[in-house]
Amino acid sequence: MNIVLFGPPGAGKGTQAKEISENYHIPHISTGDILRDNVKNGTELGNKAKEYMDKGELVPDEVLIGIIKNRLIEPDCNNGYILDGYPRTINQADALDEILENLGKSLDVVLNIEVPDEELVTRLSGRRICSNCGANYHLKFSPPSKDGICDVCGGKLYQRDDDKEEVIKQRLETYNNQTAPLIGYYKEKDILVNIDGTGKVEDVFEDIRSVLDNL
Ligand code: AP5
Repeated sequence: MNIVLFGPPGAGKGTQAKEISENYHIPHISTGDILRDNVKNGTELGNKAKEYMDKGELVPDEVLIGIIKNRLIEPDCNNGYILDGYPRTINQADALDEILENLGKSLDVVLNIEVPDEELVTRLSGRRICSNCGANYHLKFSPPSKDGICDVCGGKLYQRDDDKEEVIKQRLETYNNQTAPLIGYYKEKDILVNIDGTGKVEDVFEDIRSVLDNL
């Protein structure tokens, strides 16, 4: 099953990708996570990407297309994958089509998770992440039992630099201007399914499950 998880920042793509990956045994490929790993490790790619990420802007297409091209030929992608955060521009979507065509594959579905802007800001500003194991929390919706400490491994929780209010605004604007046009792109290809992302995590996943089980 080859899936794209689509939606604005904070829609719950990462949260739902984790559920899908565990339940359907396919890898979760998050371009945001790949870029953040590079930033953390101080690679050349990471240093370049950080300038854009900190401002809430998109990292240039050629960088992302290269990352995806290399990732999709890994053997763990043979039985499918979940793309989270890619594509984000028409250029990236065209490149994905070309990569898949060369591999003799195609996308099965694009799940468009819909959440109103006001809720997105609440979700992003309250998100906290474990610096050790990467577990995801929300100060209001899924708080850790002990303030600032991960329930899973005891690691310290931190806030992503781009989850500060002024960057969130820019990320939403970038999404609306550069990424939202992909909704029409995939609607035309007849593989877009809208998912109401406003319910509880488990309810949103049940909706996704019913789509995936009927593919
Ligand atoms: P990326 O990491 O992809 O960020 P994003 O798309 O902005 O997505 P998020 O991770 O912020 O949100 P999400 O939808 O995954 O929500 P989550 O599940 O975490 O990209 C970061 C940056 O990297 C970009 O700005 C760009 O610069 C660069 N980049 C990445 N890919 C790129 C590309 N292809 N091209 C160019 N540049 C690229 O949930 C959010 C919060 O809400 C959490 O706290 C969670 O616990 C909570 N939550 C989730 N679901 C629910 C629910 N149902 N109810 C209540 N709370 C919920």
